[in-house]
Amino acid sequence: MKHFTSIKQLGDLKEALAEAAYVKANPFADQALGRNKTVLLVFFNNSLRTRLSTQKAALNLGMNPIVLDINQGAWKLETGRGVVMDGDKSEHILEAIPVMGSMCDMIGVRSFARFESRDDDYNEVILNQFIQYAGKPVFSMEAATRHPLQTFADIITIEEHKTKARPKVVMTWAPHPKALPQAVPNSFIEGMSMTDYDFVIANPEGYDLAPEFVGNAKVTHNQDEALAGADFVYAKNWAPYREDIYGKVVNYDMGWTVTAQKMALTNDAFFLHCLPVRRNMIVSDEVIEGPRSLVIPEAANRVVSAQTVLKRLLQAL
Ligand code: CP
Repeated sequence: MKHFTSIKQLGDLKEALAEAAYVKANPFADQALGRNKTVLLVFFNNSLRTRLSTQKAALNLGMNPIVLDINQGAWKLETGRGVVMDGDKSEHILEAIPVMGSMCDMIGVRSFARFESRDDDYNEVILNQFIQYAGKPVFSMEAATRHPLQTFADIITIEEHKTKARPKVVMTWAPHPKALPQAVPNSFIEGMSMTDYDFVIANPEGYDLAPEFVGNAKVTHNQDEALAGADFVYAKNWAPYREDIYGKVVNYDMGWTVTAQKMALTNDAFFLHCLPVRRNMIVSDEVIEGPRSLVIPEAANRVVSAQTVLKRLLQAL
């Protein structure tokens, strides 16, 4: 694996899950693999879980992690070519990226959708510049359209808790005061397409995700219908993909909040969310604190997910 930007690059999911289970049971078994190797973690956006879990994964593998917060202490970066740099941006990303690449063995990048241009977001302009100019393996720590390390942790968590071979998994939109990217739901759909779970997406009208990600997945605009008999409920907000309302908040319907009443429609489902989550917008206190909430083990599995991927990248160096 040269770069890691989509969960599909894991290849055979069963093999990846077996590898993840091994990593979880033997977190320090591959310390020699990362000795004298440096991983640079570049954040254009905030993070708690990704920042901690990727560093922890690197340390478990014997690597040296360096964290660079672009917006705190680094020069402000220009990303457009041909721009006359007479404003507040002191450095161009096309110099910054190869410099970063010269100081590490691999680079993780977090760069969210900006919602300025759907084409720019869906062309992954920032992530692809790293792949083109870093000269080192690049892995996504959440880009504009995908969050594969999150999805891998989600699937590991579902596998650890499922009680039937083919659970019903519902990914439901839920309300949020700000426009959020589509990376997590897009990636989750990609991940579900690698399983044989009974997978359903529920979202309001106007919130259908990009057809290239939705593919043949079942989509309904009726949340209650989707939740009936669900074994896992994955809640997430996302802003619309539709061109005329791309990245805008057009629906604030609190009837989509995942409450105990909603969970009562399910087959005593487990509750999942990638975090951070806004309580009593996305999910009620009662549900997230309840016995079927998996949000903490799900977050903890981010270490396992990152370590499995970093291990593969190290093996390919
Ligand atoms: N789920 C997730 O990626 O969390 P952070 O944004 O805190 O890294």
